[in-house]
Formats: sequence, structure tokens, C-alpha cells
Amino acid sequence: MGESMREIKIALIGAGSMGKNLTAAYQNIPRVFYPSTPIPRLRIVSDLVEERARKFAEQFEFERWTAHWEDAVADKQVDAVTIATPNHLHRDLVLAAANNGKHIFCEKPLAQNAGEGREMYEIVHKAGVKAMVGFVYTKNPLVLMARRMIEEGELGQIYHFRARFLQDWAMSPEVPFSWRFQRKTAGPGCVSDLGSHIIQMARFLVGEFDEVCALSSTFIHERPLPEVASPSEECPKEKVDIDDATGFLARFKSGAMGAFEVTRFAAGRKIAMGFEANGSKGSIDFDHERMNEINVYFTSDPEDRQGFRTILLGPAVPYAGLWFGIPGVGLGYDALVMIELYEFLEAIVNGREAKPDFYDGWKVCQVVDAIVAAARQKRWVKVDGF
Ligand SMILES: NC(=O)c1ccc[n+]([C@@H]2O[C@H](COP(=O)([O-])OP(=O)(O)OC[C@H]3O[C@@H](n4cnc5c(N)ncnc54)[C@H](O)[C@@H]3O)[C@@H](O)[C@H]2O)c1
Repeated sequence: MGESMREIKIALIGAGSMGKNLTAAYQNIPRVFYPSTPIPRLRIVSDLVEERARKFAEQFEFERWTAHWEDAVADKQVDAVTIATPNHLHRDLVLAAANNGKHIFCEKPLAQNAGEGREMYEIVHKAGVKAMVGFVYTKNPLVLMARRMIEEGELGQIYHFRARFLQDWAMSPEVPFSWRFQRKTAGPGCVSDLGSHIIQMARFLVGEFDEVCALSSTFIHERPLPEVASPSEECPKEKVDIDDATGFLARFKSGAMGAFEVTRFAAGRKIAMGFEANGSKGSIDFDHERMNEINVYFTSDPEDRQGFRTILLGPAVPYAGLWFGIPGVGLGYDALVMIELYEFLEAIVNGREAKPDFYDGWKVCQVVDAIVAAARQKRWVKVDGF
């Protein structure tokens, strides 16, 4: 292996659904980004469920596995820790990883609240390690193009930004209880789980939030415990103490207006993460359920030709050419995970910035805290207060 082909030894904590996506991405990066400099090596996987850790290590060819995350974080060979556990563990894992001098990729939401987020930002800053948060939707090459269009003024002054993250998986009362339905393990709830993605998207495209007001609802207040095979009236249930849906309005520091909605109760919507920005020179409209196309509108088009036009993802936008040479073939979610982890590895090897970083993760938590306070107190809340 040449000097520039540096190996980065990876520890994964949390062998669940996101752990699987992240690991598959690490495995594919050297081939897709060939001849990429950083070569991830799967050193150790940890999961609380011992059998899951063992099987995962076998499936993805990790060198070691453990049921104790402390072993993974302290493994002297490990360069970078990848955190894909339920949210309440992120803080302790980050603190331990930073104290061991490891670079860190942490899934979103970074923290349970802004206080924790700030502490985590400060510790990685002090430790001088690279630290990135998994706001994966901002890595869609078409979203990168949207950001460039806004930055270069092609849409003019942005007046409106509206975004949504709509799902329907929690609508049935028979959907069992899990860590996602409890404050203690999930943090604020749907507002932070889905909300963190579109809040970061808004920060990425439009800038910082100034103030928010909000409305939250919980539609199903208790859920059957997962070990019960066929849930019935009599089966043991657990209380849900988080929101199922939240809507919020925002004013950005730029003066732009924002309108946002997140829910797990939008029948028919599976992963409808989308946004629309309206500026003085035009508009842009995107929906992840159609992640390979983006709609743009320019006020400068001749009057008899005005209308939204659809641009298909193609090799002219960042990264997409790595997979294919013609527009319209399309990428999937797995490609976005590869892009974010490639950038993380590149940052470690070549000293580049790892963005979105823990500052972004902390700022997103501030906005979430303000939304929660606004919904509770039924008033406008300044975001900087957190
Ligand atoms: N970026 C995205 O698009 C995206 C998508 C899904 C989930 N996520 C995030 O990824 C994280 C994990 O979510 P998921 O859907 O994979 O959850 P999951 O429930 O599928 O997996 C979590 C795993 O963590 C393990 N775990 C629990 N406690 C542990 C401990 N103390 N030590 C080691 N492992 C432990 C569980 O046993 C489980 O295997 C969450 O923070 C979530 O918000 C991000």
C-alpha cells in the first residue's frame, strides 16, 4: 500500500439498521472512489446484543466484535469511531471516543438537547479530532447543486423556505414500542428524529434560525411491548412520551420565512423529506422520494416559456459521475451514505473539514430545544437562548 493510501481503522458501535448502511458504505468506498486515498478497515463492531455483534462481524468481516462499547472505543488500533446507537448513548460514546483521541462519525441527532450538544462540540474541538454528524440528505448531489445555486445568487434573495419530513410507519397502534417512542432514549422525539434532518437542510441552504413557534401532537399514547406476539387490549403496554408530529414556523436571521412539518402519521408518505425555496429570481423544489430529480424555476425565462423545469441527476453535478456517465440512471440512499463517509475519511487523511460537524449538530439541537419550548409555552421563542 503506497504512503498516500492510508488505512483508517474503524470501530462501529450499534449494529442495527443504520450500522448496516454505514458499514456497507465503508466497504464500497475504496471501489467507488477508486483510487481514493482513505481505505477503511473494519476493525471492531460492538452491539449490546452479543449475538447481533457476533453475526454482524461475520457478515461484514470485522476483525473483532464485542458486547461492550468501552472495548471498541479503547482499542488502540482504532482510528475512527462510528456511532449508530439509540440517541441517548451518543454523548457518553463521543466523550469516551474523544478522550481516546479517536475521530468520530456520529449519527443524527447529535445529542438529546443543546446543552449536551455544546459539551460534545467542545470536547471534540479540544481533542482536535475530526467529528462529523450524519445529516445524510444534505449529501445528495442535487442538494449540493441547490446550495451552489443559492450561494451564487441564482435564486436571488430567499423569501420562503418550507420543508417537510413525512412518514407513516407509526400510524398503526400495533406498531410496537421501541427506543424511538421514549424521551429517555430518543430525546425530544419525532421533532428531533426527523426534524434534525430538515433543520440542518435549512441551515445548509438558507442559514441560521432566529426564532420559532410550534405545535406538537401525540396521537397514540401507549404501545404494545415488542416481545408480545399478537398485541391485544390486555397485553402489556408502554407509555409514549414524545411527539408523533410537529409543525413549526421560523424566521431566519436573513429575514427569510420558514414553514416546517415532521410526522410519522402521513398516510402514504414513506420518506418524504423535501423542501422548496422561493427567491426573488426563482424557486427550487426537491423531494427525496424522487431523489434523482430537482425542479427549478427562473423568473428570467421568457414570459411564454415560464414554468418549473425538471433536472435529472447526472454526471455534471458533484460525485454523480463516479457511478455513471449519463444523466437519469439514478442513485440511491446508499450512495449518499458513501459520499458522507468518504468525506469523513478524506477529512482525516487530508486535513479537510468534516462537514456537517459537531458545531452544526449542536446548532440543530438549539433549534429543536426552541421548538419544544415554543410548542409547550405556545409562543415565539428565540433560538439563541439555548
Ligand atoms: N441518517 C439517517 O438517515 C438515519 C436513519 C436511521 C437512523 N439514524 C440514526 O442512527 C442511530 C441508530 O438508529 P437505527 O435505526 O440504526 O436503530 P436500531 O434500533 O436499528 O439500531 C440500534 C442498535 O444499537 C444497539 N445498541 C443499543 N444500546 C447499545 C449499547 N449500549 N452499545 C452498543 N450497541 C447498542 C442496539 O442493540 C441496536 O442493534 C440513531 O441515532 C438514529 O437517529 C439515522
